[in-house]
Amino acid sequence: MVRKILTLGDENLRKVCKPMQKFDLRLWLLLRDMADTMYKADGVGLAAPQVGILRRVVVIDVQDEHGLIELINPEIIAAEGEQAGSEGCLSVPGRRGYVTRPQKVTVRAQDRKGKFFEITGEDLLARAFCHEIDHLDGVMYVDKMDHEIFDDAEEES
Ligand code: CO
Repeated sequence: MVRKILTLGDENLRKVCKPMQKFDLRLWLLLRDMADTMYKADGVGLAAPQVGILRRVVVIDVQDEHGLIELINPEIIAAEGEQAGSEGCLSVPGRRGYVTRPQKVTVRAQDRKGKFFEITGEDLLARAFCHEIDHLDGVMYVDKMDHEIFDDAEEES
């Protein structure tokens, strides 16, 4: 089920989200709805607070070999390099900004059953990890951008 995406200015986007403790049907329905919502909006990532759920849950699909990635209680455990580039957000429709992020990021998270795993991403995937995990702490890309971009259209997350 597609859920409504909150936009910049909604106070839910500025809250620190709580860890997910139960890995049950309720979480799986949330994950399903978050994926539905992300794909419907043509995004590459979505964090639970963007649909008003203040829990540490993220979905990402940058359309690479990983397919749909579900991250529960994710933490960045390693980051290296630097990339500067264009970034957007489904909660900031119609806008993009120039944001510097690590080039390569390793995340430790739990899967939908609570099992811990690690995943490493580079380039767009590394950017998506940083962007979505920021959302869980109430941080938006507009807080970090060097400047706004007015003339391109790429992935939103
Ligand atoms: Co976003």
